[in-house]
Amino acid sequence: MMKRWQAVKRLLPLLAVFSLLLAGCGREDLSVLRPQGPVAQEQLGLMKLAISIMIVVLVIVFAIAAYVLVKFRRRKGQNGVPEQVEGNFKLEIIWTVIPLVLVIILAVPTVQQIFAFGDDHYNDKDAVQVKVTSHQYWWEFEYPQYGVKTAQTLVIPTGKKIAFELKTADVLHSFWVPSLSGKMDTNPDGTINRFSFSADKEGVYRGKCAELCGPSHGFMEFKVKAVNGDSFNNWVTAMKAPAVLPEDPALAETFKKQCLSCHAVGDQGGPVGPNLTGIGSRESVAGILLNEGQDGGKPVKENLKEWLMDPQAVKPGNKMPNPKDLGLTDEQIDGIADYLANYKLNY
Ligand code: CUA
Repeated sequence: MMKRWQAVKRLLPLLAVFSLLLAGCGREDLSVLRPQGPVAQEQLGLMKLAISIMIVVLVIVFAIAAYVLVKFRRRKGQNGVPEQVEGNFKLEIIWTVIPLVLVIILAVPTVQQIFAFGDDHYNDKDAVQVKVTSHQYWWEFEYPQYGVKTAQTLVIPTGKKIAFELKTADVLHSFWVPSLSGKMDTNPDGTINRFSFSADKEGVYRGKCAELCGPSHGFMEFKVKAVNGDSFNNWVTAMKAPAVLPEDPALAETFKKQCLSCHAVGDQGGPVGPNLTGIGSRESVAGILLNEGQDGGKPVKENLKEWLMDPQAVKPGNKMPNPKDLGLTDEQIDGIADYLANYKLNY
């Protein structure tokens, strides 16, 4: 008895840690249990169906087991071996047919819907096409119908089918917005995956990379921002506007030389790094440093400075060179952070 209690005492901290971990899984914006669009809704429906069947089976089996344990327990003075029974045609039919029926009830909608989720809607007339490219450790979103490219915040119109075409620039990643849909891999072998989802309501939904892809896999987050159709059109227009550069000519020169060799703003710059157009109005810096307006967010400029001062400290293993190694002074970094923080899009 003593020993058992000690074992329980030893396991208690472990139990506490696991409960905390599991509580972490329940973060509202990363939960598949709070669907925000039709695809996630149907997927949750399948889970509910499977769980309901399991619960019914569990309750019935446990009830029968408990009944048998009590009813046929060893009575006082009962010493002989009980009557041995072998084979019962009726029972065997029952416990073969019932599971078969349950599996059919489970399989028909599951197979039907899984094939439907995999349908290719990329060329649907009213779908919004988005080409997703995953990079260690950021997300690139291209809208071929609009000629717009962005990173880290995927802006979508509500109620419209968003049809994705996914690929990777390096290793295997997985694109996942739990409240809008299940995951889809981005494959390094060159195959391209397509799937689609939509959001019913305006809001910001959290997305994650769901495939271990390197030291900063856990930081490879992005946001999906669902806005109404007018706002979406305004966003596209704002994205296509000519680039806004730092006002100070010297800083503009530094920015062009050091930053635009990889990054792009508006119609200027390169395609290597994340597109920075309107970064001041995004929900995060580098996908992981939350900006003001988000739960626990900090001012955009503060986040930009944190990133620019030491990108490796925020996302170990990322490919952005340290601006200081490029010869930028603290003052220049502050100036660029200030410029980017104020580079906002109205939509
Ligand atoms: Cu990309 Cu994990």
